[in-house]
Amino acid sequence: MATVTAFAPGRVNLIGDHTDYTGGLVLPMAIDMGTTVTGERGGGRVVLDSDAGAVGEPRIEFAVPVGAALGQEGWGRYAEAVAAELGVTEGLVGRVTSDLPIGAGLSSSASLELAVALALGFEGPARELAGICQRAEQAASGVPCGIMDQLASAAGAAGCALLIDCRTLVIDEVPFPDDVQVVVVHSGQVRRLAASAYADRRRQCEEAEALIGPLRDADPGLVETIADPLVRARARHVVSENDRVARFATALTAGDPVTAGQLMLESHRSLAGDFDVSTDALDALVAGLTDRPGVWGARLTGAGFGGCVVALARPGAIDTGWPVRPAGGATVYL
Ligand code: GLA
Repeated sequence: MATVTAFAPGRVNLIGDHTDYTGGLVLPMAIDMGTTVTGERGGGRVVLDSDAGAVGEPRIEFAVPVGAALGQEGWGRYAEAVAAELGVTEGLVGRVTSDLPIGAGLSSSASLELAVALALGFEGPARELAGICQRAEQAASGVPCGIMDQLASAAGAAGCALLIDCRTLVIDEVPFPDDVQVVVVHSGQVRRLAASAYADRRRQCEEAEALIGPLRDADPGLVETIADPLVRARARHVVSENDRVARFATALTAGDPVTAGQLMLESHRSLAGDFDVSTDALDALVAGLTDRPGVWGARLTGAGFGGCVVALARPGAIDTGWPVRPAGGATVYL
């Protein structure tokens, strides 16, 4: 039997959070860390060993085709959900390795999903792969996530950030300047209540859209007509964030990290204020990082409620966290 090796990167989102599920703009990049699945296809079972002993089962095993309900817990549940979405009837015996920090906000679960999907034999365009893995993530975690994480991992381009229009799924590769460093720093705070709070935010955005139509098309004046102050604030974040993403892409293209960093700070303030997904630890980390010489901006990245901050800095200005480079997308080696 032939050995297959599949790799999928993690991602960091530079700007554009809580905009993907209303068809807005996001600007993530795939990073040079990720998950590798190596194995042999065949038989009627998926059996995967993992090196992530400290955060889950060292081995998972389930039969294919997967039944109506998922039976696995932990990381195995994501692999099982992918097998279920793909409807695979051929198993896989292999091994999962990862150099991504797990649960840190670098999309370790999306990276695992994509690597498993490719190892199980998925062939097709990046958007289709991302859609399958997004549905698997939703089924496995119960979080009604958008498509950003999976699409960033599927469509990554070396040396480029990705401007993704989540309404059309059109992706523009934005070349990333060589003399600008992206650093991801963990707040030390494990994300709490993220699942229910995320679903609440998504519902509030839907409430806003029921009143004023698609947030993607709304202008700030229309947002201010929403009577409920909470729903109005959520909508204000989304509408202003879409605008910041577009301006950030322009600044990056122009090689202007000062403006890009400023937009990151504005994004953080909006996520903390209008969208209320920050924490004291994230706010303190953003303030501390931006006080350092050579740091152009920082913001919470991903869903919020703990997790990581992403910073834009002169190379060498930040001596903590993970320096990351924009990298290529998920790929399979047969
Ligand atoms: C999580 C979700 C994404 C996106 C971000 C917030 O990472 O998986 O789809 O909604 O939160 O931008």
